[in-house]
Amino acid sequence: MTDAELLARAEAVAARAYAPYSNFNVGAAVLTRDGRVFEGVNVENAAYPLGICAEKTALAHAVSEGVRPGDVEAVATTASPCGGCRQWLHEFRVDRITYRSAAGDIVTRTPDEVLPDSFDL
Ligand code: THU
Repeated sequence: MTDAELLARAEAVAARAYAPYSNFNVGAAVLTRDGRVFEGVNVENAAYPLGICAEKTALAHAVSEGVRPGDVEAVATTASPCGGCRQWLHEFRVDRITYRSAAGDIVTRTPDEVLPDSFDL
């Protein structure tokens, strides 16, 4: 699957976001090295800080099916990943991340490029 195809999956699933407070629907799709795709959307809450980003729900979806750090080839997301999601992407050692920049361009970056000097325990 190409990065463009993975981003198309993320764009399609964004329609299922639960974002009644921000009205900002985000979709994400995780491609594993063995070719599986796991999708996720942002899920908001009336207690605002409890909301969760699409990248995290997609990665949590994958983890629930047995995926572990090192198993993820690529992630696509319809928004530029937030700082916290960049740390999650680092944790899973994904090869590359594709997203639409704020300017609307499609960009592909490594976790190191989007989060230099990241934290490791
Ligand atoms: N959001 C994501 O799902 N992923 C990101 O990387 C950026 C932000 C969500 C969180 C919130 O539900 C909405 O977008 C507005 O911030």
